[in-house]
Amino acid sequence: IDESVTLQKALPFKFGAAVNNGLLRSKAAYRDVVIKEFNSLTAENAMKFSQLHPSENTYTWTEADYLVDFAQQNGKRVHGHTLIWYKNPPNWVLNYQGDAAAWDKLLKDHIQTVVTRYKGKVTSWDVVNEAVAENGTLRDCIWLQKLGPEYIDKSFIYAHQADPDALLFYNDYGHEFGPTKRTAILNLIAGMQQKGIPIHGIGMQMHTRYTQSNANIAAAINTAAATGLKVHIAELDIAMNPDNIQDLTYSAGLAEQQKAKYEYIVRTYNAIPKNQQFGITTWNVGDADTWIRGEYSRPDWPLPFDDNYKRKAAYQGILDGVK
Ligand code: G3I
Repeated sequence: IDESVTLQKALPFKFGAAVNNGLLRSKAAYRDVVIKEFNSLTAENAMKFSQLHPSENTYTWTEADYLVDFAQQNGKRVHGHTLIWYKNPPNWVLNYQGDAAAWDKLLKDHIQTVVTRYKGKVTSWDVVNEAVAENGTLRDCIWLQKLGPEYIDKSFIYAHQADPDALLFYNDYGHEFGPTKRTAILNLIAGMQQKGIPIHGIGMQMHTRYTQSNANIAAAINTAAATGLKVHIAELDIAMNPDNIQDLTYSAGLAEQQKAKYEYIVRTYNAIPKNQQFGITTWNVGDADTWIRGEYSRPDWPLPFDDNYKRKAAYQGILDGVK
């Protein structure tokens, strides 16, 4: 292993990770690999609504500030995640009583308070996350119920007012699952572009699996690029145990298939126009910290670093993708 090679040096676009403050504080091996390998950071959880704004008149900035300070000290870009999401709005929001104007003000105040605090420090935001359901309709959520479909446009307008220099992304998953959800996402974005809504990028989470076809992955990346917007592969991981086999082992054969899939994704992304390459971000750093193990209660190894933050074959696959 050539330790003088790192992802951030080898790749012609930003390569980032979603990071967890608890691990940054407590695990030297984790902190070291974050500093060495990545040049863009996303907070795994620290900038979500519930974390930042747990009650109506309280903002808790400690964790998000910690991440932003860490990034600044180490020369990393910060991508903000996420202003508005259907998932886990705090109870005070779910129980909020107010007319349409009051809900509009609630949305605006949250977005503008957060974006203003990090103006000049956070380069870009996932403004709205996962607004489209699997069947292509808008996903039911408190924002849709209270504000109608306009909650999406409004969120971008409010974020743009607070920081006109921030790059604003619509972020979702499943572009590579097939045409139904992908087309709905692309139509939503095309509609926003036609209306002149300030949207600058499309985030494709790409929580994918090693069995996903290259054709679907290419369709996801290339149709996103065809919008003309910046493209962020925003939450990349490649699940190796999608069938939830409890006693699966991570064989050399699986590691090679994962390497090939990482290489294909990076190669395809590297072929889109340079000025649209916002970067690739993996969701977590090493296999030990993947959200997948907790969420699905199964062994899995989705990342380019292993449980001890050593480089896997997948790491070499990423490097090979730009050769
Ligand atoms: O911090 C509490 C802890 O105090 C408590 O004991 C424990 C018991 O459940 O929960 C802890 O909070 C958990 C939090 O992660 C921190 O570990 C939440 O339950 C859990 O729901 C939360 O999961 C996060 C999830 O988003 C929901 O916010 C994952 O870490 C995070 O990886 C995941 O990230 C999402 C992206 O934001 C959007 N795209 C999909 C991606 C994966 O689901």
